[in-house]
Amino acid sequence: MIRIRSCRGFGEFDTCVQLQIETWGYDYTEIIPRKTFLLAQKIGGQVIGAFDSDAEDDGISDEPDALIGFAMSLPGIRTENGVAHPYLHSHMLAVQEGYRNRGVGMLLKREQRREALARGIFHMEWTFDPLEIKNAFLNIHRLGAVVRSYRPDFYGVSSSRLQGGLPTDRLVAEWELNSLRVKTILEGRNPGESGSIAIEERIRVPAAIYQWKASDQDRNRALTVQLENRRKFQEAFSRGLAVLGFSLDAERNGIFELGKFPT
Ligand SMILES: CC(C)(COP(=O)(O)OP(=O)(O)OC[C@H]1O[C@@H](n2cnc3c(N)ncnc32)[C@H](O)[C@@H]1OP(=O)(O)O)[C@@H](O)C(=O)NCCC(=O)NCCS
Repeated sequence: MIRIRSCRGFGEFDTCVQLQIETWGYDYTEIIPRKTFLLAQKIGGQVIGAFDSDAEDDGISDEPDALIGFAMSLPGIRTENGVAHPYLHSHMLAVQEGYRNRGVGMLLKREQRREALARGIFHMEWTFDPLEIKNAFLNIHRLGAVVRSYRPDFYGVSSSRLQGGLPTDRLVAEWELNSLRVKTILEGRNPGESGSIAIEERIRVPAAIYQWKASDQDRNRALTVQLENRRKFQEAFSRGLAVLGFSLDAERNGIFELGKFPT
C-alpha cells in the first residue's frame, strides 16, 4: 500500500537526498542537499513523498527508508504584462527502481497538483530530457502537459548517469493544473475527442535510445538523434506549434505529436 503525503523531519529529507543519488548518480557539484529540500518546503515549494506503508507499519519504527519516491518543487514567479504570478517549478521526480511502473509517479504528480490548487496555484512547469521516452509518455500522454520551448544544453555538463554524457537538452513541460485539457486527461479521456486537435508534425525517438545512451560504442547514434530532433523541435516551435500528444508505436518508439496550441 503506497501512501502519498508531504515529507517531514530531517530523516525523510535525508532519504530524498539518498534516493536522488541512487537515481541520478550525481557527483557533489549537482546533488541537492537536505537543506534545500527543507527550504523548498518552507518557502512555498513542495517535497512530497511516496511511502510504502507496509514497510512503515512493520512495528519496528517509523523508518525514513519507507520513503520510496518523492517529488520536489520550487516556488517560482513569472511576470505577464507587468503582473507577477506564482507558479511551481517541479525540479525532481524519482521513484525507487523496484517500485517503478506501478503508478507511483502518477500519484506523486496528482498530489502535487492537488496541493498546488488548494493554495490557489494554477501553473506548474518542469523540464525533461526529450530523449526519455517514458518521461515524455508520462508528462504529455498521462498528465496532459504541453511543450512550447526547447532549451539546448540547459544545465551544461551533467554527471547524471541518465544523461549518458550527452548535452543536457530539455523540453519545458507546462502543466495548466485547472485546464479542461488536464482535467480531461486525468480522468482518462482523450482531449482530442472533440476533433479540435490537428497534428501537423511528428518527431520520433527510437526505442533503442536507452541502449545507445548507455553504450560507449553507440553514444554517437544517440547524439545524432538528439541533434536532429533539437533542430526539428526548434523549427516547429518557431512556427507556433506545441507538443500536444505523445504516442508509442508497436516497437515502443516514442512519437511527439505537434499541432497548433488552441488559444
Ligand atoms: C519517471 C519516474 C519518476 C516515473 O515513475 P513511475 O512510478 O515508474 O511512473 P508510473 O508508474 O506512474 O507511470 C509510468 C508510465 O510510463 C509507462 N512506461 C514505462 N516504461 C516506458 C517506456 N520505456 N516507454 C514509454 N512508457 C513507459 C508505464 O507503463 C506507465 O504508464 P501506464 O500507467 O499508462 O502504464 C521513474 O521512472 C523514475 O524515477 N525515473 C528516473 C528519474 C527520472 O527520470 N525522473 C523524471 C525526470 S526529473
